[in-house]
Amino acid sequence: MDSFLIKGGVPLCGDVAISGAKNAALPIMAAALLTREPCVIRRVPRLVDVRYMGQILSRLGAQVTWEDDAVRIHAAKIKGVGDYDLIRKMRGSICIMGPLLARLKTARVSLPGGCVIGARPINLHLKGFASLGARITITGGYAQARARQLVGAEVFLGGRAGSTVLGTANVMMAATLAEGITVIESAACEPEIVDLANCLNAMGAKVTGAGSPIITITGVKELHGVEHEVIPDRIEAATYAIAAAATKGEVTLHGARTEHLAAVLDKLQAAGVRTERRGAALVVRRGRRLQPVDITTLPYAGFPTDVQAQMMALLTLVPGISIITERIFESRFMHVSELGRLGADIEIEGPSAIVKGGRPLSGAPVMASDLRASAALVIAGLAARGTTLVNRVYHIDRGYEEIDSKLRGLGARIKRLQES
Ligand code: EPU
Repeated sequence: MDSFLIKGGVPLCGDVAISGAKNAALPIMAAALLTREPCVIRRVPRLVDVRYMGQILSRLGAQVTWEDDAVRIHAAKIKGVGDYDLIRKMRGSICIMGPLLARLKTARVSLPGGCVIGARPINLHLKGFASLGARITITGGYAQARARQLVGAEVFLGGRAGSTVLGTANVMMAATLAEGITVIESAACEPEIVDLANCLNAMGAKVTGAGSPIITITGVKELHGVEHEVIPDRIEAATYAIAAAATKGEVTLHGARTEHLAAVLDKLQAAGVRTERRGAALVVRRGRRLQPVDITTLPYAGFPTDVQAQMMALLTLVPGISIITERIFESRFMHVSELGRLGADIEIEGPSAIVKGGRPLSGAPVMASDLRASAALVIAGLAARGTTLVNRVYHIDRGYEEIDSKLRGLGARIKRLQES
C-alpha cells in the first residue's frame, strides 16, 4: 500500500482547483440505471470509489466508458443483484438499490455492514422502499426488495442522527418511476441531494423541494438519457481551506461553492481564519492569532461530519481548549490516537473530543484509518515540524483526486512512496 512522506512546516500558498464531488457523483452514476438510454456525467472526480462504482454498474450489465472527467453509462439491459464482493468494498454502493427496484421491480443487494466510522445501517432505506409498497426480506446477508408496482406514499426518513443522505437518494430515485406522488419527510438537505434531484429532473423526473426537508416526487412512466455536470466537492474545498490555515498559508480555491460551505467558513472565521470570496474563487488566509472554537457535527446545513477530523487537526495547533462533538457517526474519532502520535493532546469523553491545543506537532509515522481521518493526518503532517509518514493512503485516494500533486502545486513537500 502506498504511503505519503511529508516534510512539514511549509506554508501552503497558491491556487488549487476543486474537483467534482465524490458523494454527488456516486448516486448520480447509480441514477443512470433508471433509464435504457445513455447518460453522460461530467466533472466526475477520478477516484478509487468512483471507478469502483463504474465496475459495479458494469457488473450489473451497463456499458461504462470513461473519457477524461466524463463517464458515459448505458444501462440498456441490467440485472438486479448487487453481490457481496461488490458492495462490501464501498458502503456508498448501496445507492444502486433504489434505481434497481424502480427499473426492475426487484433488487437484491448485499447488506453493507458496519465500518470504522460507525454502524452504517440501512434500515431507513428499507423502510422507505417498504412505504412505496416493496416487500422487504433479509436472507443470507442480502436485503431484497420486490414490488409488482411501486406506489407513491408519504415516507418519513428521520433517524437517530437526523435524516439519511443515501437513504434519501435511494428513496427519491425509487419514487421517480412509482405510480403517483411520494412525499419524503425529514429528507436530507445536503447539496449532493439537490444535485441528484437536478439530474433526475433533467432525465424527465418530477422532483420538487430538494434541499429542504420535504421532497415531493411525482412518478413518471420512464426516464431518458441526460448530460449532467456534478457539483464541486465541498468537503475537498473545506480540506484545502483548513490545510491553508494550519500551515499559515494563503490558498485560492477555484470552483469552491461558498454557499455549500457556510458552516465550515463560519467556524474558520470564528477561529480567526480569513476567508474572502473573489468571483468564483475563495481565498483562505490564516489570521495572526487563532482562537479555539467548539464544534458539533450535524446534518446539512450544520457542520459536516466529513470535515470534523480535518478541523480537529487544525484545532490541535490553536492555544486553548476546543470541544468537538460528533453527532452523526458514533466512532468517528479514529484519528485522535494518531494525532496524539504527532504530539496533539486530545481526550475523548463520550461523543466529544476535548482538544487542548497549542502544543507544537512533530512528525512521526502514522496510520490512516478512513478517508477523512487520513486527510486530517496529512494536514497535521504538513503543519508539524519534521517528517511524517502517513501509511495506508489508499483511504485518501478513495476521496481526494490527486491530493499529493495538488498539495505539491501549493508548495507542500509531500512524496508518494509506492509499495514495491
Ligand atoms: N442511519 C441510520 N439508518 C439508515 C441510514 C443511516 O440509522 O438507514 C444513520 C447512520 O448510522 C448515521 C446517520 O444516519 O448515524 C447518517 O448517515 P447517512 O445515511 O446520512 O450516511 P450515508 O448516506 O451512508 C453519506 C456520505 C458520507 C457522509 C454521510 C453523512 C456518501 C457516499 N457518503 O453517507 O460520506 O459522512 O453521508 O453526511 O455520500 C465520506 O465521504 O467520507 C463519507 C463517509
